[in-house]
Amino acid sequence: AKDIEADLIRVHCTEEQIQTRLGELAVEVWDHYEGKDLLLVGVLKGAVMVMADLMRHLPGSAPMDWMAVSSYGSGTKSSGVVRILKDLDADITGKHVLIVEDIIDSGLTLSWIRANLSSRNPASVEILTLLRKPDAAKVEIDTRWVGFDIPNEFVVGYGLDYDEGYRNLRDVATLAPHVYS
Ligand code: PRP
Ligand code: MN
Ligand code: MG
Repeated sequence: AKDIEADLIRVHCTEEQIQTRLGELAVEVWDHYEGKDLLLVGVLKGAVMVMADLMRHLPGSAPMDWMAVSSYGSGTKSSGVVRILKDLDADITGKHVLIVEDIIDSGLTLSWIRANLSSRNPASVEILTLLRKPDAAKVEIDTRWVGFDIPNEFVVGYGLDYDEGYRNLRDVATLAPHVYS
């Protein structure tokens, strides 16, 4: 454990802004899936905070499942190589799948996950991401719900890590380059 405040340059989304936005998105999601068999699929580990808070903003209950993939390793650049570390627990045939993510950076991770899940005969697959970096996109992804667009900087907090650290920050902030260079 270490003091992390000194490693941050600027805050992009405060805890309060995140909660307000997730509250708005939860209502939109709930309305969209009314009467449908919704399954929330979180992408470990970054999406743990988004999943926990989005779910608690939903007006009703929906089940969740998790996939663990990795594209970053311990560095700061996406490799494009996606590995399944943990697959879903259950079959998703006929289910309306909503993938819940913390961030779309290059988009490589989610485009791969979406294609993978779409091949399993779900009723639908949509994406909700708290954060998106438009200037970092390497592939186009149809993303139905986006919390915030942010600049192409290396950000940490609210689930997002650098070398497995900083996930517990309540805000999303840019990591100072001296930390990783
Ligand atoms: C991060 C982040 C997204 C992905 C986005 O996950 O949580 O899942 O990278 O990057 P991309 O759009 O460039 O593919 P990471 O692979 O670091 O694993 P983690 O969630 O366990 O931190
Ligand atoms: Mn992730
Ligand atoms: Mg990571």
